[in-house]
Amino acid sequence: MSNKDLLILGLETSCDETAAAVVKNGTEILSNVVASQIESHKRFGGVVPEIASRHHVEEITIVLEEAIEQSGVCVQDIDAIAVTHGPGLVGALLVGVNAAKAFAFARQIPLVGVHHIAGHIYANRLVSEMVFPSLSLVVSGGHTELVFMREHGKFEVIGETRDDAAGEAYDKVARTLGLPYPGGPHIDRLAHEGKPVIDLPRAWLEDDSYDFSFSGLKSAVINTLHNAKQKGISLNVNDIAASFQASVIDVLTAKTLRAAQDFKVKQVLLAGGVAANRGLRNKLAAVFQDFPEIEVKIPPLTLCTDNAAMIAAAGTVFFQKGKRNELDLNAFPGLEMASV
Ligand code: KG4
Ligand code: ZN
Repeated sequence: MSNKDLLILGLETSCDETAAAVVKNGTEILSNVVASQIESHKRFGGVVPEIASRHHVEEITIVLEEAIEQSGVCVQDIDAIAVTHGPGLVGALLVGVNAAKAFAFARQIPLVGVHHIAGHIYANRLVSEMVFPSLSLVVSGGHTELVFMREHGKFEVIGETRDDAAGEAYDKVARTLGLPYPGGPHIDRLAHEGKPVIDLPRAWLEDDSYDFSFSGLKSAVINTLHNAKQKGISLNVNDIAASFQASVIDVLTAKTLRAAQDFKVKQVLLAGGVAANRGLRNKLAAVFQDFPEIEVKIPPLTLCTDNAAMIAAAGTVFFQKGKRNELDLNAFPGLEMASV
């Protein structure tokens, strides 16, 4: 390890993953530990905030120690600590924020607050160089956003969901179909066995809008199921999954392509848990095939879902740009994305 290496410890506890990671120079993962709580929330069909907070309290020090041990670095060599301070569940966020403050105070090192979505975008920097201007399609259980970046640390949200996030729509439709939580991967799997033969709506909104809306689609699926049941018709579950997925992906990819052209970007980055979707990955690559001047980057699955390496990666850039937070840093459930 050279003297000039910058070592950032990242912490993430915004939802149902307790995570800690050490990243070198913003690009190299030295450790990336994630304790998932999915099993505890499964029987409730979604994340229960109170249970999430309790698990974070139990796990945080274990995960943090493991991340430092696995990284092979001495705790004295860590230059700063980056932590997600929003958006997310307030009780969950507070656990990570307080752990980070205690660590920063004990080691007398800088504390850097990171926006969760900035983290998802910066997951990409752990696998390839980021080229600007860029456009990120962030699709997760809590977010659906198109973020334009002119340079490192400068974020412009040009489109977002007006109701449900893409992952949320997946999880709600899956629940209606009797599939376990989280439902996204199950629908993805069934969709590949079925055909998109059921006519479902696509919310394009106003011509020039880069916003999304998925609640109408979700209701349309539920209505289709109810109507069929009332008429005694049995629908093929795989076809429902395929039709729903086709509708989500059509809108996501078409709006990403239009925004990428309008903003003349050089790179398109996919981020967030729904980036694990096979249909989305394939279609996004396909729609950009005719535009070789725009590079499409899709991170590996482990970096798409919530993790702390992405927080450390974003935190590194923020740290280098001089961002520092005091020990009164708070958790903000509705934190807006701010440029650094
Ligand atoms: O980014 P993430 O781990 O957590 C949040 O920040 O929300 O995303 C979790 C979301 C869940 O809604 C889950 O159903 C969805 O990502 N997801 C998928 C797939 N894998 C995970 N959605 C569609 N297809 C998948 N293969
Ligand atoms: Zn996330």
